[in-house]
Amino acid sequence: SGGAKKYKVVLLGESGVGKSSLVLRLVKDEWIESQHSTVGASFFRYACHLEEGTTVNYDIWDTAGQERYKSLASMYYRSAAAALVVYDITSADSFERAKYWVRELTTNSPETIITLVGNKCDLEHQRKVSFDDAKRYSQEMGLLHCESSAKEGTRVQTIFVEIARKLTAT
Ligand code: GTP
Ligand code: MG
Repeated sequence: SGGAKKYKVVLLGESGVGKSSLVLRLVKDEWIESQHSTVGASFFRYACHLEEGTTVNYDIWDTAGQERYKSLASMYYRSAAAALVVYDITSADSFERAKYWVRELTTNSPETIITLVGNKCDLEHQRKVSFDDAKRYSQEMGLLHCESSAKEGTRVQTIFVEIARKLTAT
């Protein structure tokens, strides 16, 4: 009951961490090895059905991670109900960049629910960011945290279900 609720979600993070790949896995359950680097931002819709019969409709903005688009990001995260701040578990630099986005969001958009997402967890043998460090940081900052693989489809839907639960609980 209560009908469908609609929320704006933004993906932020360094170029190449897999933001577009996560969205492609989410909305089409597809994977392409040679995903093109995003220009500006892309828009997607996704309906998330919860067990109790509630539907949450997401308006998803997949932003471009390249440096030249950095100043545009605030247009996309402004008024976002939720943000996925994505890093690549094989790149310490991408984790530092994720922390930058977390600071930016907590300063300029304090109501936005943030999930820190460590993507490419299929590349365990190349890991540079420990799960525990990222978990500890997330707890300190009050963020949701998980690791995903867009390539293997690990935990991609789950992220959006957890956000939906948090959004509909408030
Ligand atoms: P920008 O649009 O430039 O900001 O990059 P992005 O964050 O959207 O990254 P994108 O989805 O384009 O992925 C970059 C590269 O990482 C691509 O070659 C993907 O195939 C690869 N990739 C994405 N997700 C995964 C993953 O979960 N595992 C592995 N092994 N590779 C991935
Ligand atoms: Mg992209």
